[in-house]
Amino acid sequence: MYSKYLIYLLNLILLSSRISLSISDIPIIHIPILFNYTNDIIINNNTFPIILNYSNPLTSYIIFDYVDNVGGFPFFDIDQINGNSSLRVSYSEALPNIIDGDVEFYPLIRSFDPYRVKTYEIIASSNHIESPLIQGAQIYQRITLTSGGSIRINKLGIKSAYYTKEISSAPGSFSCSSELYTKMWKMGVRTLQINMIPARTVPSGFIATEQGFFLTENQAGVYLRGMQWINYTVTFSTMIVKSGCSFAVRSNDYSEIVITINSNEHLNPNTLIVNTRQELPPPDIFIYNITLPFNISLLKWYKIKAIVQGLTIELSINDNNVSTISLPESSNPYIPSMTPGGIAFTTSNNQETFFRDLQVVDLSSSNFGSILYQSSLTSQQSVYDFGVGTNELPIILDGAKRDRNVWSGDLLVVGPVLYYSYYESKYVAGSLALLNSYQLKSGIVSSRVNVGFPLQRSDPTDEFVGPIFYSYTYFLANLISVAEYYLYTGDIQFVNDQWPRMQLLMEFFSALVDTNNLIVVTNPIWGYDYNPSYGIYTGKFTKLNILYAMALDDAAFLADAINNVTAAIQYRQQAIAVRNAINTYLYNSTSNYYMISDQKTIGISQDTNSLAILSGIASQLGPNVSEQLLEQLKQKLRLSGTNGSGYLSTTSDGIPQGTSVIVSPFISFFHAAAAFEQDRSDLAFDILESVWSPMAQPSPYFTGTFWESERPINYPGASTSMAHTWSAGITPLLSKYVLGIKPISPGYAKWLIRPQLGNLTWASGSVCTPYGIITVKWNNSNSQFKITVDIPLNTRGTVYVPTGRNCINVNEKMFHMESYDNSVHGVDRITKNGSYIEISIVSSGSYTIIANSVCNAVSSAFIRSSILFYLILSLFIILS
Ligand SMILES: *[C@@H]1O[C@H](CO)[C@@H](O)[C@H](O)[C@H]1NC(C)=O
Ligand SMILES: *[C@@H]1O[C@H](CO)[C@@H](O)[C@H](O)[C@H]1NC(C)=O
Ligand SMILES: *[C@@H]1O[C@H](CO)[C@@H](O)[C@H](O)[C@H]1NC(C)=O
Ligand SMILES: *[C@@H]1O[C@H](CO)[C@@H](O)[C@H](O)[C@H]1NC(C)=O
Ligand SMILES: *[C@@H]1O[C@H](CO)[C@@H](O)[C@H](O)[C@H]1NC(C)=O
Ligand SMILES: *[C@@H]1O[C@H](CO)[C@@H](O)[C@H](O)[C@H]1NC(C)=O
Ligand SMILES: *[C@@H]1O[C@H](CO)[C@@H](O)[C@H](O)[C@H]1NC(C)=O
Ligand SMILES: *[C@@H]1O[C@H](CO)[C@@H](O)[C@H](O)[C@H]1NC(C)=O
Ligand SMILES: *[C@@H]1O[C@H](CO)[C@@H](O)[C@H](O)[C@H]1NC(C)=O
Ligand SMILES: *[C@@H]1O[C@H](CO)[C@@H](O)[C@H](O)[C@H]1NC(C)=O
Repeated sequence: MYSKYLIYLLNLILLSSRISLSISDIPIIHIPILFNYTNDIIINNNTFPIILNYSNPLTSYIIFDYVDNVGGFPFFDIDQINGNSSLRVSYSEALPNIIDGDVEFYPLIRSFDPYRVKTYEIIASSNHIESPLIQGAQIYQRITLTSGGSIRINKLGIKSAYYTKEISSAPGSFSCSSELYTKMWKMGVRTLQINMIPARTVPSGFIATEQGFFLTENQAGVYLRGMQWINYTVTFSTMIVKSGCSFAVRSNDYSEIVITINSNEHLNPNTLIVNTRQELPPPDIFIYNITLPFNISLLKWYKIKAIVQGLTIELSINDNNVSTISLPESSNPYIPSMTPGGIAFTTSNNQETFFRDLQVVDLSSSNFGSILYQSSLTSQQSVYDFGVGTNELPIILDGAKRDRNVWSGDLLVVGPVLYYSYYESKYVAGSLALLNSYQLKSGIVSSRVNVGFPLQRSDPTDEFVGPIFYSYTYFLANLISVAEYYLYTGDIQFVNDQWPRMQLLMEFFSALVDTNNLIVVTNPIWGYDYNPSYGIYTGKFTKLNILYAMALDDAAFLADAINNVTAAIQYRQQAIAVRNAINTYLYNSTSNYYMISDQKTIGISQDTNSLAILSGIASQLGPNVSEQLLEQLKQKLRLSGTNGSGYLSTTSDGIPQGTSVIVSPFISFFHAAAAFEQDRSDLAFDILESVWSPMAQPSPYFTGTFWESERPINYPGASTSMAHTWSAGITPLLSKYVLGIKPISPGYAKWLIRPQLGNLTWASGSVCTPYGIITVKWNNSNSQFKITVDIPLNTRGTVYVPTGRNCINVNEKMFHMESYDNSVHGVDRITKNGSYIEISIVSSGSYTIIANSVCNAVSSAFIRSSILFYLILSLFIILS
């Protein structure tokens, strides 16, 4: 059967096969330095080896410092062991949390170590320990012996599991007269870097063997296509290697019912324990336990059958009915008692188990007796079915410590951070391809996937449900990010691949538009936005409508790219209608702000108003509206003095009572961009400085990377991701607006260089384009503005020189603005526009442009040449 998705599929295979191992994919070994230790520790002149003794009470410890925030596989090289002992290791991103590590969280599908405190039993043979699981991010590591004798550690460290190219060799760069801004630009790149995961870096969680899945400790995966099941029978066989076996039913991405069978080697031998579990602490809630009427031995196969129906689970082992488990009714009105979910396998600390011959049979009346899933669990494909394969594509995570997911909303910032630094565009392409490969028939695309999720190669399907489809605003972010990717890379192949899915997504949204041309949130499940604690947005949610207008324009841009003129016209018309409707219905013209929604009319939020400016919707309403909004945001949201630093993401009346307002570097990206777009670099720099610099100042919480969110007057807690890429927006802002380089046609075929200086005296740097590198260096000292740009072949664009004067010097030739004579090679036009002189450049090469105080020099040169002309003229007259 011919299908447009077949082409899509073929292209995705091409995309994966284009990936080859590069130098940046080779791990590096991070060896920490000693930060602190108790004086009974024997060390060799402040370095390895180190002798660590058990002490009672537990007073001895060592804290190591990796200097940078790093993530990967921890290893321990122990070369002398005296007696058995227990080595306790804890990890944290910030020093104050080191003793007990950061707050743990336990996603039900994961590809990393969920524990921030680990204990290794050290016996004579354990001279080398290498964790098979990733510790995603830490600067500090603390070790201590909690029992036993003494060990000598020859070396310990972390083998990296992220993209390793040095920031200084990235093709994009930025430095300026402010050390702080130079440092913050790099911090943004570092934040991105430890979240960039090269293809096939994350190991498969489950190991497919001829005997079925083998699960080592602390694994968790859920059958991805079963998350909407409710009543069914599960059968499989299990063989316990260590401790016990655990599996889960009604398992989706956020909750499940876990059944654990402990072997006769367990502390509570031959017991059955039932818990409910969810991603966020508390991890397990006890429901039920019994002692089994027979022994469960290690290394023996047992056949397990669970009949999951309504609020009971009937469990049998080797065809003996062992118990009927009653499930509790949900006490939360928003969570049904019978939360849909399928089958999951999991191991805790100490467990190692095999699983094979899985079969799930439907018990729902509509489909009674049909097989929902059947697998011997011996293939790598079945590992992927549970969401815990290796990552096929290069991807970018939201946070290195947590959540270690690919999130579409985050890509609005993450994409630009990448384009202005490493420019390894396959990381954005990989992230988007993966997200968009999960699409429902209605058109919505996944907003969140785990590292180990396989790229789906089938047509849109309704088999996937649950939290991977997060919210309306995030669905649109997928499309906006595809368009932005195209703008920065010119990769038309990728647009062709994604187009059928993007078109289907736009059909989904056009069906939600009401007679007033606005989208109405109909399904509250998808009413969340970037901060779930701010609650659900219902009705005509303004931000959603602004994003929709932006997505329509972007869809038109993509339709142009693939030459569908009809579609482009339709999208543009619809965009105009939505823009007008937003201004008609969602703007409060008495108080001059865009309301959060037609149902939440009070409260001023940073994102809604910033996006109204960025999308151009505000300026469409009136020439001063954007300015007024920026002033309004400054008045209402700017913190100062003892209230903290930065801008609140909303006034407190804009969010549910009892929730606390955060300062969001993610949202501040849009705010600062809006200020730059309005040429209010004073406000833009105020946002950059007040929001980002607290994370760049020396403090016990300094990580060299940007934090997920900031608390107005406190430091983040131990659960906060301290390396969250959505907070790295300062990097693209500095490159795009301060250095001033941006593409204005796909792949920078046309670009624009328009620096905004703030109080900086110089800035210099580069960006990568498909045509080569553009470099810019400007200097604004001694009342003279000088800029040098290097332009690659086959591109053209305009350099905007900020000056009040009318004179300009280009490559050592001086001109009065109105008398440019096309005499500079590559410069076809010079015009004056407001406070900028525009120099149009049409060929590659280096251009040095000087404005301002040279005006007199230019005029005197002009006068001098005029005098010369008249002298010659008079001479001529005299001679004749
Ligand atoms: C470092 O060691 C000193 C002396 O042992 C101790 O007073 C201090 O609290 C330690 N600092 C940390 C962060 O452990
Ligand atoms: C200790 O290390 C320092 C710096 O690495 C070195 O200069 C010094 O010679 C070392 N001392 C001994 C006793 O090895
Ligand atoms: C630590 O253990 C080593 C080796 O067992 C021993 O030589 C040393 O005396 C111990 N140190 C302390 C402070 O107990
Ligand atoms: C150390 O542990 C091993 C393995 O668990 C055990 O066989 C041995 O008896 C233990 N030794 C001591 C001294 O406890
Ligand atoms: C069940 O759990 C309770 C509470 O933890 C415990 O006291 C009891 O011994 C357990 N029973 C069995 C059979 O494991
Ligand atoms: C279980 O195993 C123990 C020894 O490990 C044995 O004494 C006991 O009889 C066994 N019980 C049953 C019911 O097989
Ligand atoms: C599941 O089973 C329960 C109990 O038999 C029943 O009430 C419920 O409607 C069933 N749900 C579905 C979707 O079949
Ligand atoms: C162009 O897009 C429209 C939808 O707007 C669609 O109906 C049409 O089939 C597309 N044309 C082509 C050639 O893909
Ligand atoms: C506009 O804002 C003012 C002041 O907050 C308020 O009194 C008025 O009701 C708002 N108008 C609308 C249409 O919500
Ligand atoms: C320059 O610095 C002054 C004084 O700190 C400040 O008021 C002004 O806003 C700054 N201008 C810009 C564009 O950042």
